Amino acid sequence: MDLLRRPRRNRKNKVVRRWLADTDLRRSQLIYPVFIVEGKEQKQEIKSLPGQYRWSVDLLPQVCEQAQAAGVGGIALFPAIEETKKTEDAKEALNPDNLVCRALDTLKKVSPETMAICDLALDPFSSMGHDGLVKDGKILNDETVEMLAKMAVIYAQKGADIVAPSDMMDGRVLAIREELDDASFEDVQIISYSAKYASAFYGPFREALDSQPRFGDKRTYQLSPRNRREALLECELDEQEGADILMVKPALAYLDIIRELRNSSLLPIAAYNVSGEYAMIKAAANKGWLDEKQAIGEMLLSIRRAGADIIFTYFALSEFHTDF
Ligand code: PBG
Repeated sequence: MDLLRRPRRNRKNKVVRRWLADTDLRRSQLIYPVFIVEGKEQKQEIKSLPGQYRWSVDLLPQVCEQAQAAGVGGIALFPAIEETKKTEDAKEALNPDNLVCRALDTLKKVSPETMAICDLALDPFSSMGHDGLVKDGKILNDETVEMLAKMAVIYAQKGADIVAPSDMMDGRVLAIREELDDASFEDVQIISYSAKYASAFYGPFREALDSQPRFGDKRTYQLSPRNRREALLECELDEQEGADILMVKPALAYLDIIRELRNSSLLPIAAYNVSGEYAMIKAAANKGWLDEKQAIGEMLLSIRRAGADIIFTYFALSEFHTDF
């Protein structure tokens, strides 16, 4: 054939392909979500998340060490609260000695340089399994926001570097920012779960924490998968309210939102490669249906390519390939 342009020339071998790779993926851009549980010497398997565990606080140093050795960007803590401590008013969330606070104590003692990220939402502490306070079957916005802001200060006092409201209540970012600033925690960052969709892909996470909503669903606060503009509006508001980093969650089914946000905001963007996305790959790899290391690399690259700066992922410590 008489072809002047042969783009394949630029892919002819690995060296050339390496020159021209325009998306990179570094461990330092990955945040490792870690589940914690009461007790001692607990490393409990999570059935729906093969290879992930609920760790008791005394074993947390082990996880920090692995994370540090791998060079990951930080650890996000998620507490599996005992059923007896879950109440309708979720008051355990404000206990300065709760599971998250004790984990922070340990984490900051053994590994002060590890960035500790604390989720702000009431679902792990609520007997209703909702992210907000509930009254007469409704999720209360303003009362929840007040609690989240207090929670942020408690975690900051224990050394949290970043708080991450994942609740989708209105106005929470501003309230958290003000409360943190009033308590002189100007340096604590807010990663806001800004575009958080009501998603089936959270299933394994809810099993890990036993935090399924006890009635209804989360669709009065999390976004509808049908909507795009609404996600951008949420992001714009969180930006105005003082968020440092905006998050899109889940990642894979919402790569278009990550890209749009990348084009419309100057803030850094995080994406949450959620539990269901992890479980899908694990399940298929377990059956021998795909190459796990390639699939992980490809998936994480797609999220970076869409425009995410950092990625929360259960694969943060896993082996994966990106040098194709
Ligand atoms: C709770 C919260 C959820 C996740 C992070 N924080 C679940 C939910 O909203 O029901 C999901 C993470 C995952 O699936 O990996 N506020």
